[in-house]
Amino acid sequence: MIDTHSHIDAEEFDNDREDVINRAKNAGVEKILIPNVNPNSLPVVEKICGDNHGFLYPMIGLHPEDANPKDMDIDAFMDYMESRLQTTHPFVAIGEVGLDYYWDATYRHLQMEVFETQVKWAVKYNLPLMIHSREAHDDLIRILGNHYCDNLKGVFHCFTGDHRQAQEVLEFNNFMLGIGGVVTFKKATLPQVLADCVPLSRIVLETDAPYLAPVPYRGKRNEPSFLPSVINKLAEVYRCNAATVETSTTRNANLVFTNISN
Ligand code: NI
Repeated sequence: MIDTHSHIDAEEFDNDREDVINRAKNAGVEKILIPNVNPNSLPVVEKICGDNHGFLYPMIGLHPEDANPKDMDIDAFMDYMESRLQTTHPFVAIGEVGLDYYWDATYRHLQMEVFETQVKWAVKYNLPLMIHSREAHDDLIRILGNHYCDNLKGVFHCFTGDHRQAQEVLEFNNFMLGIGGVVTFKKATLPQVLADCVPLSRIVLETDAPYLAPVPYRGKRNEPSFLPSVINKLAEVYRCNAATVETSTTRNANLVFTNISN
């Protein structure tokens, strides 16, 4: 199984990151993909992925919640990121990028601009996109649609939308829906949306660790070794066995992230 979205670079893991990685391996996790969020996280993401070559894989990107001109020099970081993409680099995707109007929509126009630039990079440098979307579905679909082409791939990370949103997302043929702990939550509507309109061939696994731990760990710090709880729930949703979910989601992840299947 592949955890396509895990922030184990976060400080929540500073005291026991190695144990977390070992528990993941023991639970059967083959690879973990680490999104970047801002200029401060990038050196940490690169360091831990370099130290765990062939198991942890880094992404590069600016998260919409971090795209705040009061906290950082956005232009300088965008220039730096593009300079990295123009030469030999270790990054397997552009992420985590997107739009988030939930916490703060003050800079929504700036978020759109930053997102659009990073979508263009995905096309230009032939890298998949790891997309974060919250309360911004329509703007996000419009921007992505403007640049969509056959070789653009990616994941709608932490998908929790309704039927209509799922159908709109699925129209982007080379994109998968990232499914994690939320699908196990008691009141989640996601299982029904998945069962009704999302084929197993279009989902990948993720934890979003340290957030959104699945039942029975809900409320605790999430980590990649909790993925079997998500798999078991998906086996219920798709009326198949856990091994089928595992094989399918791994294949789907390898289709999107072509540079991790060595
Ligand atoms: Ni994330």
